[in-house]
Amino acid sequence: EWTPHNVVESLVEQVKETVGDKRVLCALSGGVDSSVAAALVQRAVGDQLTCVFVDHGLLRAGEAEQVEQDFVEATGVDLVVVDAKEQFLGALAGVTDPEEKRKIIGREFIRVFEQAARDVVGSGAREGHPVEFLVQGTLYPDVVESGGGTGTANIKSHHNVGGLPDDLQFKLVEPLRLLFKDEVRQVGLELGVPEEIVWRQPFPGPGLGIRIVGEVTAENLEILRAADQIARRELSAAGLDREIWQCPVVLLADVRSVGVQGDGRTYGHPVVLRPVSSEDAMTADWTRVPYDVLAKISTRITNEVPDVNRVVLDVTSKPPGTIEWE
Ligand code: XMP
Repeated sequence: EWTPHNVVESLVEQVKETVGDKRVLCALSGGVDSSVAAALVQRAVGDQLTCVFVDHGLLRAGEAEQVEQDFVEATGVDLVVVDAKEQFLGALAGVTDPEEKRKIIGREFIRVFEQAARDVVGSGAREGHPVEFLVQGTLYPDVVESGGGTGTANIKSHHNVGGLPDDLQFKLVEPLRLLFKDEVRQVGLELGVPEEIVWRQPFPGPGLGIRIVGEVTAENLEILRAADQIARRELSAAGLDREIWQCPVVLLADVRSVGVQGDGRTYGHPVVLRPVSSEDAMTADWTRVPYDVLAKISTRITNEVPDVNRVVLDVTSKPPGTIEWE
């Protein structure tokens, strides 16, 4: 019988068998899949697992803390946090082209993760138990997409992980590879993963870096984080989290418009609300968020976030628009 409890028990057994007394590494992103996969492996082999969380400074308000504090408390995972905020900001300085941003963020991520992985692998305290495995939160739809879904999908595959150098090659542990997203969420809840993480909407790897049209600076990130937090809170309070697939909030840092506030004119930036409804992100429609909810978000953002004097709504479906602006 399929129950979260039974699935967890059987996956834990499989992970134990696969991993034995070897050590395991996992890159935590703060997303659902890597978090649940890590929690499962932790349940199976305890602190043979070391998780690495690269804080690139491009997450939304509160998300790094959710990983560093809430997730660790809830699961007992051994976590190495790498504060790479300055490094990412430095690498992104002056860059405005979306694909260039993606490339830089991807490249820096690999660099930082490699260094952290070397540190973990080389840590002498656990000599004799080499790090042999890397956890990945691959789901069944990913397996099918890459041509491996023939019903014989195994908990472990032996290919090397693309993008890592020869001295950092691991076997993969992919405990979620027979599960769909909704099943992963149930397994996550069963494992005690915090609800904020289990129910997190999709969020792109390059994070807020591709939601600033213009340069990614500390200041722009702060503005966007504040606006995004207000939008998220109000949409949640209105009970729209399940109806909305995701709602990027985009800062048009390259655009200014004139406004008026109190006695004076302002010359600030617009933010765009991009609420979409979707099944799989391949196509999407703009969500008909009730006007009173939009009004509340707009009022709060323009009142509370300095430098933002205009809130606009994106009413484009996908296609022709993409969900993200960059
Ligand atoms: P688009 O903008 O292409 O987005 O309609 C479709 C889905 O993919 C997410 N997305 C990304 N995810 N790295 C990611 O990990 C990226 O570079 C990236 N770009 C878009 C987006 O949030 C949406 O869910």
